[in-house]
Amino acid sequence: MTIIVTGGAGFIGSNFIFHMIERYPEYRIICLDKLTYAGNLSTLAPVMDNPQFRFVKADICDREVVYKIFGEEHPDIVVNFAAESHVDRSIENPGVFLETNIMGTATMMDACRKYGITRYHQVSTDEVYGDLPLDRPDLFFTEETPIHTSSPYSSSKAAADLLVLAYHRTYGLPVSISRCSNNYGPYHFPEKLIPLMIANALNDKPLPVYGEGINVRDWLYVEDHCKAIDLVIHKGRVGEVYNIGGHNEMRNIDIVKMICDALGKPYSLITYVTDRKGHDMRYAIDPTKIHNELGWLPETKFADGIKKTIQWYLYNCEWWETVISGEYQTTMRKCTGIDNRTIDI
Ligand code: NAD
Ligand code: DAU
Repeated sequence: MTIIVTGGAGFIGSNFIFHMIERYPEYRIICLDKLTYAGNLSTLAPVMDNPQFRFVKADICDREVVYKIFGEEHPDIVVNFAAESHVDRSIENPGVFLETNIMGTATMMDACRKYGITRYHQVSTDEVYGDLPLDRPDLFFTEETPIHTSSPYSSSKAAADLLVLAYHRTYGLPVSISRCSNNYGPYHFPEKLIPLMIANALNDKPLPVYGEGINVRDWLYVEDHCKAIDLVIHKGRVGEVYNIGGHNEMRNIDIVKMICDALGKPYSLITYVTDRKGHDMRYAIDPTKIHNELGWLPETKFADGIKKTIQWYLYNCEWWETVISGEYQTTMRKCTGIDNRTIDI
């Protein structure tokens, strides 16, 4: 079995590669990643010398290169994590989100059509459903909830989802889509809420909370997301959408206070700042379908997951300090020259 994993040098993609290499020692895993600001080759250092693994630096929008890799590897399965993923950046500069998240998805699926695969899996997000009101805790996103996006990021992800379903209906491409809630865990880029707050708190810097901090997110430990995708690509039905989430809703301000408490930092670091434009109020996933059909359930409780995550950031200061300083971009270029399984096309 050969699997192409795009965006594998990012947060969830790297965790997925670690999971797959450990779980399926007989599989060949090809990571295709452009190494944007969010991709960090040092994250993949533990698998770089593994004969099961190949890293290719490539843009999913670059048709010629993508086809070349498919021609060489003839993958059975493609899991598309590659995306511009940060809502705030999409508000500042939507263009690259449309390019990577929509055109990149189309290019990957065109390659799948040309070379033939058994499964194309699109890693999507609960943000395609828009948001829920704070005063209706009885409401959840199901797979039937209409698409109703708020940001350029979520709109680009929704457009990609629609394209994926269109490629299934029009060309018969064997696709699946998963829509997950907010992830947290190791290798999370320190521009997102949890890793940013941990890094800033450790540096005694202000903790910027948007608006009143009462927006709610539904947090899932990244390993649980990876296990869910593993199930969907192997056992999920073709043409189907699966929601992934663990019923773990938290207000932003409560998470920030929890991080302060865990690190022994004062709440005086918390700084309320101007709200995000179009800020979604609440996300909440109903994961009944993936539970009933595939038996998936989250394994990590938030109290344990956040402890593990904070510990990881404490023990891996070098990783996030290098990421914050931007120094890793230089280090990465050095790495690409050194490792012979790393092909810079
Ligand atoms: P990330 O920003 O940490 O990583 C994205 C990766 O994609 C990086 O390695 C980057 O270099 C790569 N990439 C970006 N543009 C590329 C391109 N044109 N060609 C090839 N590679 C490119 O993102 P993440 O948080 O790991 O999210 C991964 C996927 O999961 C995304 O599709 C995102 O929409 C989805 N998702 C994320 C969350 C979450 O909470 N983080 C939740 C649900 C779904
Ligand atoms: O729900 C899944 C989505 O979760 C993914 O599709 C996205 O790729 C991922 O980035 C994430 O989006 P969010 O916008 O929910 O995550 P973020 O960490 O950026 O913000 C979480 C909440 O915290 C949100 O309500 C905004 C708030 N926030 C965020 C930052 C970065 C702050 O209050 N202060 C901050 O500095």
